[in-house]
This record gives sequence, structure tokens and C-alpha cells, in this order.
Amino acid sequence: MKEAEHAIEVENLTKQYGDLPAVNDISFNVRKGEVFALLGPNGAGKTTTVEIIETIRRPSSGTVCLLGMDVTKKKSDIVPRIGVLPQGFSSFDRITVRETMQYYSRLFHRGSVDIDGLIELVQLKDKAKEQYMRLSGGLKQRLGIAIALVNDPEVVFLDEPTTGLDPRARHEVWEVLLGLKKEGKTIFLTTHYMEEAELLADTVAIISKGKIIAMDSPVQLIEKNGDYLIFTLQGVDEKASAVAEKMGLEPQRTNHRNITVRVKHMDDIRNILNAMEDAGASLISMDVRKPNLEQVFLKLTGEALHEGASGGKGAQ
Ligand SMILES: Nc1ncnc2c1ncn2[C@@H]1O[C@H](COP(=O)(O)OP(=O)(O)OP(=O)(O)O)[C@@H](O)[C@H]1O
Ligand SMILES: [Mg+2]
Repeated sequence: MKEAEHAIEVENLTKQYGDLPAVNDISFNVRKGEVFALLGPNGAGKTTTVEIIETIRRPSSGTVCLLGMDVTKKKSDIVPRIGVLPQGFSSFDRITVRETMQYYSRLFHRGSVDIDGLIELVQLKDKAKEQYMRLSGGLKQRLGIAIALVNDPEVVFLDEPTTGLDPRARHEVWEVLLGLKKEGKTIFLTTHYMEEAELLADTVAIISKGKIIAMDSPVQLIEKNGDYLIFTLQGVDEKASAVAEKMGLEPQRTNHRNITVRVKHMDDIRNILNAMEDAGASLISMDVRKPNLEQVFLKLTGEALHEGASGGKGAQ
């Protein structure tokens, strides 16, 4: 068997559900040892893609190889070598953390699994004797990650590992994932949180309506697609919008006292400020930022990553 340089190779993958191309002719590779994030809003095709790679769903067309093996032909060889945290993971309510881990290690015929080591890795040592149903959402997800690691997989798939968690629990899951990244595991992550992709991923593929519309490192994605600055003017009156419009800019109102405009250069900012002064417009403070991945996504697709996304349309 050829030892592939890439952990995952996807070529012209399509999945059709009736008339709907849920995944529409996508191609990408995932290098061994990298964290690859598929970033996209609800219904973009993330789970469909990831579950085809995991051998769970069948592609309509295209080829997918995992560790050099065709996912439609080598299912039994592939499954023991991967770990999976499914979207919306759940486990046995009344079974404790340690019992759950023991059960899953038996499923994989792995008598020698260091269960305590895994429980420690996901920071659940204090909860080893706690029943699943008594864990908070973040702890449940961390148990799910430990289960995904029980067979010491070469590639770990995590489908929206932090969706629905509060910010603190999300950060705790990120800490666990950063630990895995340090160990050099190949991780395939799906998410609609751009901070998650920006923090964890070496490569981000942005997926929208079944198509990959951009793919690169987070820094490069911002560099290539975010060649503008976001200028926020705070504590302004109506005159400020009028001045910006007159200059051919498209001011967006973020709240009743703030507007933002996209500008190309620092010179544009100086010009706006001068024009505002000439017009006698009020201004209390201001802020200039480079766009983040969320704003790049909005610019590329015109849609938000998730409801209530920070920097939504109004904040452009
Ligand atoms: N088994 C199925 N049968 C029919 N349609 C499906 C099936 N699975 C997914 N779809 C549709 O395919 C599209 C992509 O779904 P998918 O679950 O892959 O998206 P997703 O990016 O994972 O979304 P989410 O962020 O909500 O999890 C959606 O329109 C969905 O309704
Ligand atoms: Mg999904």
C-alpha cells in the first residue's frame, strides 16, 4: 500500500440528495499532522463531507482517499485508524466517565488503552466517577473527544466540537484541541466559529452551499481577501453618514451613534476626518481594524457564519 503524504485526498467530490447538490464538486488535500478546518454556515455541506471521508456516507461521485485508502473500498481498514466526534454527540446517561471510556475501549478491542491518561488529557480527572447526564455541555464534548481518541487514531474528525457551548466551555475545549495539535495529530474540524478556525487551523477551507470558495491558512485568507480596513466612527450624528456617502463610501450603521466604512488606505481616513470637520459633524472616538476571518467570509459569500455573528452585515 502506498504511504501517502496526505492524510486525506478529496477529488471532485459530489453528494447529491435528490435535486440538491449538498456537496458540489469539491477538491482538497489534508497534510499529515495538520489541523484542517471546514468553515461554513448551517447547511453548507460540512457534515456530509466529513461523514463521506469517515466512510459513513457514500459519495455520488468523485474520489476520497484516507491514509492512501479509497473510502468506498477499504471501510474496515479505515475505521480502526480514525477517531470520530459526531455532530451533536451524546452518550449513555447513567454511565460514568470512566465506565464510558472502558466500554468504548472494549469496542475497539483495545485492552491496553491508558484510560486514565485519556481522561486526564481531556481534563476530566475530577469527573471520572460522574454520570454522563450530570456533566455540563463542555464536559460532555470533552468526553466525546476522549472517546474519539480511544483507538489512538491517526486522523481525528471533530464535527462542530464547540457548537452550543458557552464561551468559557468553548475555550476549555480549545485547550484540549491545542494539546492534540501539539502532539501532531491530524485533525479535521468543522465549525462555524471563525475564531475557532483562526485559533486552531493550519488550513481553512470556506464552504458555502456545497462549494469550497476559498482555502488557505487563516493569515493568508485574511491577507488575500481582506485588503481593506474597517473604520468605525463612534458618537456621530446624521452629518457623518452624509459626508461618507458624498465621498462614495457605503457607511453602515452599527448602532444609533456609530457607523463603519471600508477604506483602502490610511489616507482615506484622513480625508474622511477632514470632510467631517468641514461639515461640522460630531465625532467622539474612532477605531481602525483589519478584517477578521468572519468579515472575509461575509465579503466572499454575503452570508453570516451563524446567527448573531459578531461583525455581521451591519458591522462591515
Ligand atoms: N441524508 C440527507 N438527505 C437529504 N438531505 C440531506 C441529508 N443530509 C444532509 N442533507 C442536506 O444537505 C445539505 C447539507 O447538509 P449538512 O448537514 O452536510 O450541512 P452542514 O454544513 O453540516 O450544516 P450544519 O452546520 O447545520 O451542521 C443541507 O441542505 C441538508 O438539509
Ligand atoms: Mg453539520
